[in-house]
Amino acid sequence: MSALRGKHILLGISGGIAAYKSAELTRLLTQAGAEVSVCMTAGAQAFITPLTLQALSTNPVQTTLLNPEAEAGMGHIELARWADHILIAPATADLIAKLTAGLADDLLSTLCLASTAPLSLAPAMNQQMWQHPATQANINTLTQRGTLIWGPAQGAQACGDVGPGRMQEPAALLQQLQHYYQHPLPLSGTRILITAGPTREAIDPVRFLTNRSSGKMGYAIAAAAAAMGATVTLISGPVALAQPIGVTRISVESAADMLVATREQAANHTILIATAAVADYTPAQTATQKIKKSGEKLNIALERTVDILATITREQKQLFSVGFAAETQNLLAYAKGKLARKGVHMIAANSVADGKAFDRDSNALEVVWQEGSQSFPEMDKHQLAKELMQLIQQRYQHWTQSQ
Ligand code: CTP
Repeated sequence: MSALRGKHILLGISGGIAAYKSAELTRLLTQAGAEVSVCMTAGAQAFITPLTLQALSTNPVQTTLLNPEAEAGMGHIELARWADHILIAPATADLIAKLTAGLADDLLSTLCLASTAPLSLAPAMNQQMWQHPATQANINTLTQRGTLIWGPAQGAQACGDVGPGRMQEPAALLQQLQHYYQHPLPLSGTRILITAGPTREAIDPVRFLTNRSSGKMGYAIAAAAAAMGATVTLISGPVALAQPIGVTRISVESAADMLVATREQAANHTILIATAAVADYTPAQTATQKIKKSGEKLNIALERTVDILATITREQKQLFSVGFAAETQNLLAYAKGKLARKGVHMIAANSVADGKAFDRDSNALEVVWQEGSQSFPEMDKHQLAKELMQLIQQRYQHWTQSQ
């Protein structure tokens, strides 16, 4: 049976000469048993008519945002929810830039922003435009968010140039989509709860205690877990990072808020990964009014916060829990100690000596568990997150089999 049977595929078409190939793609998708709804940009309609796509998909073609007639049928938010997968072929340089920036000034970009479905792009453009650093940076960002980039192919272009920029052939795109659904991802069906970022502990209405955590590692782990098929809930302290695609984010401020949110979510998750740099101490009292300066010294009494990782691990026995540790010395020994003390299944320790790890794009880790350990040399946090998630998945599988 076709892996696409019954799947709701939202086929986005943007304005490039390759748009004519999307007619064939629509036909192949419907033949493979998918239900196809086509959304065309204004540019796409200059190359191919909606009527052609309507006939091939046997569904009305959507073209405009806030069209009263279309909104009376399947509104744009409904359509975004309907989609199991969004495939945009061809995806022009302009559309790619729009998706990167998160613009929503037409129907297709709005649907992408409003949907949590996996998104695949089949880029098609002049080879110079494809190789431009702006496009490459956009593709990089989208890839890091979990967007699948299929192509472009190399070869002769409509403009006479030769190089990368041709849209992949419809049959190749169909194959990639089928492949995506034929091979269930390793974490399909697994629900992962991740804490990330710093916390803010209020001193008074305008001041707080915090730390240098950027949340980058936790966000990269959330994106890697989602790309491996997991359902991911990310409980995040205040950070300046975009929500990874396909991840549900719950924003919190203080350690106490993070504990409440984690407790609320923990029961319906199977893995907990605590990457957050939770404040260990919080002001014993938060002043209700701004503290005015007075003497030469100011003492603020602090009290310990609850250890979220240890508490939730103790309360929810079904959780496979992974903690992080930041050490300036004796990395392995401290990590092993933390493993036992917190009762968790794995500890990923990073060295923060000489300002390493915090607010940087790369990191190195020593990961320990009861029976072993593994070192990850310094690398980009996104790559590290992928490799770490593979190890977590292996250890989790081993743990569930031994239960
Ligand atoms: N953690 C937590 N709640 C806290 C404190 C820490 O969930 N109130 C989690 C962190 O998310 C991380 C791990 O526990 O996974 C870090 O443990 P911690 O004992 O705070 O270690 P370090 O911060 O590395 O440092 P130290 O041992 O020096 O306190």
